[in-house]
Amino acid sequence: MSNYHIKHLEEYFQVYRKSVRNPEAFWEEIAEEHFVWRKRWNKVLKWDFSKPEIKWFNGAQLNITENCLDRHLHIRGDKTAILFEPNDPKEEAQHITYRQLHQRVCKMANVLKDEGVKKGDRVCIYLPMIPELAVSVLACARIGAIHSVVFAGFSSTALATRINDCDASMVITSDGSFRGNKTIDLKGIVDEALNHCQGIKTVLVVKRTGGKVDMKKGRDHWLQPLLDKAYADYTAEIMEAEDPLFILYTSGSTGKPKGMMHTTAGYMVYTAYTFKNVFQYREDDVYWCTADIGWITGHSYIVYGPLANGATTVMFEGVPSYPDFGRFWEVVEKHKVTQFYTAPTAIRALAKENLDFVTKHDLSSLKVLGTVGEPINEEAWHWYNDHVGEKKCPIVDTWWQTETGGILISPIPFSTPTKPTYATLPLPGVQPALMDENGNEITGNQVDGRLCIKFPWPAIARTIWGDHKRYKDTYFSAFKNMYFTGDGALRDEVGYYRITGRVDDVIIVSGHNLGTAPIEDAINEHPAVAESAIVGFPHDIKGNALYGYIILKETGESRDRENLKKEINQVITEHIGPIAKLDKIQFVPGLPKTRSGKIMRRILRKIASKDTSNLGDTSTLLNPEVVQEIMDGAL
Ligand code: WTA
Repeated sequence: MSNYHIKHLEEYFQVYRKSVRNPEAFWEEIAEEHFVWRKRWNKVLKWDFSKPEIKWFNGAQLNITENCLDRHLHIRGDKTAILFEPNDPKEEAQHITYRQLHQRVCKMANVLKDEGVKKGDRVCIYLPMIPELAVSVLACARIGAIHSVVFAGFSSTALATRINDCDASMVITSDGSFRGNKTIDLKGIVDEALNHCQGIKTVLVVKRTGGKVDMKKGRDHWLQPLLDKAYADYTAEIMEAEDPLFILYTSGSTGKPKGMMHTTAGYMVYTAYTFKNVFQYREDDVYWCTADIGWITGHSYIVYGPLANGATTVMFEGVPSYPDFGRFWEVVEKHKVTQFYTAPTAIRALAKENLDFVTKHDLSSLKVLGTVGEPINEEAWHWYNDHVGEKKCPIVDTWWQTETGGILISPIPFSTPTKPTYATLPLPGVQPALMDENGNEITGNQVDGRLCIKFPWPAIARTIWGDHKRYKDTYFSAFKNMYFTGDGALRDEVGYYRITGRVDDVIIVSGHNLGTAPIEDAINEHPAVAESAIVGFPHDIKGNALYGYIILKETGESRDRENLKKEINQVITEHIGPIAKLDKIQFVPGLPKTRSGKIMRRILRKIASKDTSNLGDTSTLLNPEVVQEIMDGAL
């Protein structure tokens, strides 16, 4: 029996039991048989959730890019590693082979070195979905620099915060990006951000749109001429198992974004293993994940997981609606995609359009469909199953987080029977627990509670960059000796998990995590705003949309409300990005607060969702009368 590739349900249960009985032996066998190491580990796992400290494969040495590139060269050097599908369907797709990718990464590694980037330095990557993004990520890993990819839809303020938080010394960007029929001036956004960043010495600029840019002398360089001169080989830096690989920011319920830090060996082993199993990947498959590499899904399941398996991974620059709503299906047909992985929000948006956009394409190459990022509702699940998968492709509803590095709960296609809206069973090595509010584990089935994980898996984030205390407080303090996910879940009669959503103040809009605090902070920057509270409410396509309750200052009272709404969304766009714009804004005389001054978001959530029949106990409020006033003005 191979632990590495599960093929039926009985095998899953056997492997799972083994992985729980002796996790060290389980992961050791996988690490030994499926990866190349420069030096073997001394100890498979050392952990203590109370500190918290987690070390996998300690003492081992490796370079993840040797596992993603070099070792494939003699067996599949001419196989396509990255299949780049441009925004404009008239522009030709690029098939980048493993050999070519290796060369491009080596050249880029040499450029980074020549520009003074050293092992351990932080490099911020702010690029659209073009091959240079994957190449830059891998080049950082090759020289041991820590990449921090910032999604290229974030604003200059958000970018500056992330650059400063990890003290990056370089930014890699492009002149601009194409998204549907729009072009976005990325270099201009970087320039604006860098007015607030002292530490950036170099900016490398990829030419993509040909738009006009300002190049600051001494700081900014076009990338291509540097690559043209660079040597096409680079001996990979030898990294320790626990050396940082990357930082990726995610929103918290309070405060600034959290720079989740992932390390090398455990992350590699886990993403490769889960990729292989969750997508039942086989050598000739063409795998496509539609996420952006700016999110964890892209890191783990566009770049590292697929490449560690020698897969062909599609990188798509565009959007699902351009040039029309059939684009995804056109690409599936064109490249004969076998596994397709996307977000529920995209499915809901496409399900609203004419079915012809789907049916006119030949989707018979598809074998497995996946979703990630938020709960998938039953209707969307069925549409995906019936029309895209034509009822023959299992849907893997994969639950995981930026913090977890890889998928934790998901069906294994062709093994685990799927059930709409259920992420089903934990993957091998993953030990979930449901906890009640008093900190006790809820055992048995047909129960619900707060979702925790009892035992470390190799890809768990090791810390929050520069703030280990916050890491401990956020994830390891709510429940003793458990990693707390922040999600609620239920376990059905057969032990399947269904994730019900966040139990904290994080709101997931179109699959993107948005903390309430940073949005409220942004709104409060508007001179007419005294105070604000943001909650989520159900939305047909986005899953959740944002509802803002805003108290105006006296000076704002006389202003035109519609203009104010526009200005407030403008402030949010500037501070965070357009993804955080409010769908509804209600100006209110006050906010319901507890006697200790905490906003009672529960009540605001109910009003926003038009579910006011049972508001619960409002007697502990400092100002119960405001609730009626808010209800009267609700949108
Ligand atoms: C939510 C994305 C339900 C969840 C990989 C989690 C999901 C947060 C699912 C992490 C799913 C992700 N079903 N909810 N299949 N997948 N979530 O960090 O609330 O961007 O905590 O990582 O998304 O979002 P993140």
